Amino acid sequence: MSVRTSEVKSLDYIGKEVMVRGWVYRLRKQKENAFVLVRDDRGGVIQCVFPIDKAASLTIESSIEVTGIVTQDARAPEGGYEIKGKNLKIYNIAGTDYPIGEYQSEELLLDKRHLAMRMRKMVAIAKIRATVLDYGRRWFVESGWMEVTAPIIVKGAVEGGSTLFKLKYFNEEAYLSQSAQLYLEAMIFSLGPVWSLTPSFRAERSRTIRHLAEFSHLEAEAPWVTLEDLLKVQEQLVSYVIQNTIRERAAELAYLRRDIVELKKIEPPFERLTYEKAIEIIKSKGLMITQEDGSKREIQFGDDLNIDSERELTKNVTKPIFVVGYPLSIKPFYVKENPQHRGNGLAADMLAPRGFGEITSGGLREDNIVSITERIKKEGLDPAAYDWYLDLRNYGSVPHGGFGLGIERLMRWITNAEDIKDTVPFPRTISRVTP
Ligand code: 4AD
Ligand code: MG
Repeated sequence: MSVRTSEVKSLDYIGKEVMVRGWVYRLRKQKENAFVLVRDDRGGVIQCVFPIDKAASLTIESSIEVTGIVTQDARAPEGGYEIKGKNLKIYNIAGTDYPIGEYQSEELLLDKRHLAMRMRKMVAIAKIRATVLDYGRRWFVESGWMEVTAPIIVKGAVEGGSTLFKLKYFNEEAYLSQSAQLYLEAMIFSLGPVWSLTPSFRAERSRTIRHLAEFSHLEAEAPWVTLEDLLKVQEQLVSYVIQNTIRERAAELAYLRRDIVELKKIEPPFERLTYEKAIEIIKSKGLMITQEDGSKREIQFGDDLNIDSERELTKNVTKPIFVVGYPLSIKPFYVKENPQHRGNGLAADMLAPRGFGEITSGGLREDNIVSITERIKKEGLDPAAYDWYLDLRNYGSVPHGGFGLGIERLMRWITNAEDIKDTVPFPRTISRVTP
């Protein structure tokens, strides 16, 4: 039976024979011995020492099976344990031109992501990601929300026509889903509070460090909720994911040199800031926004918050904040108008601290058939494409709402990654669809 390196590195194994399977991570051949750092299939490593004649043919990333006796040697890297190799079974001798070494460009690492996934940094991120997804799901399951699955091939835009991926669907045109929201809305009438974790697609034309063309979208929708109910769900969910992740993945976060002092303090409540107040703050800081023609001007009521504005609002805060009550003009057709404040939407975004920017968007949905039909038309969309969605307003409409959280945006903040592309194994952007 093979064991993983993390298990081998314990006093219990000293003097015992073990079998470890893995790949040659580092290799030092000396006159008499070869020192082979073996990486197992969960990214752990242990040094194995062989007489040089046995290991002469080894190359970096060759796949091997080592049998030997565990010893302690203070000089051994990665914890002072070592395996004195007895038998070496070779599965494959890797080509000598393995493209990933100690230093290479970010671009090459992206071109070779299928191999770069073996880097310990990538393994650490992948483990953190698995834990973030695990606790994201658990929060909903434990809180009594039902998991559902929405289609990825759809007919209607949710988040505006400009980021739709078109697709030839037999003899008609369809799109890749931007959000499961409209389908989740259809399910709350018989399933109550529901959630889904699906890929969402956005044909984002610009290259940024926080946009992907394909991302993992954790979405939720519930009947008979208020905006405040939805904010509470989001702050609980995000706090729960973070607290459990930093506990279970302390070693990986330390490997990435992520300081978790501030993350430890993430707990409800998060500050609620009105959109008006947000604009005032940004104005008072003198931040200028860039217009389409490149010229700059002061931010004003009605402007959307871009990354610079979001950074200005959160650069000195250590917990996420909610910006609440955006003007309807900068939010999609489905956002419910605030009856007490015409022109204002009952919608909120959660902004991560330290300039990481928006990680969730959500709010109440327009539930009146007349108003929503008008809003669809106003956005230049064809109500016919939404006939099934309009049925939901025709047959037993109820106040309801939900939100969407971008897993990679949350990951970027948790891991302190500069670029969102580092939070997902195989990123998709305007300039990258392979590997
Ligand atoms: O703000 P968005 O566009 O809102 C929606 O899609 C709603 N229909 C969700 C809902 O209410 N069910 O997207 C939600 C979140 C954003 O806050 C962001 O975290 C993430 O999805 N997101 C992206 N992440 C990576 N790359 C992109 N291009 C993203 N676009 C949105
Ligand atoms: Mg948004």
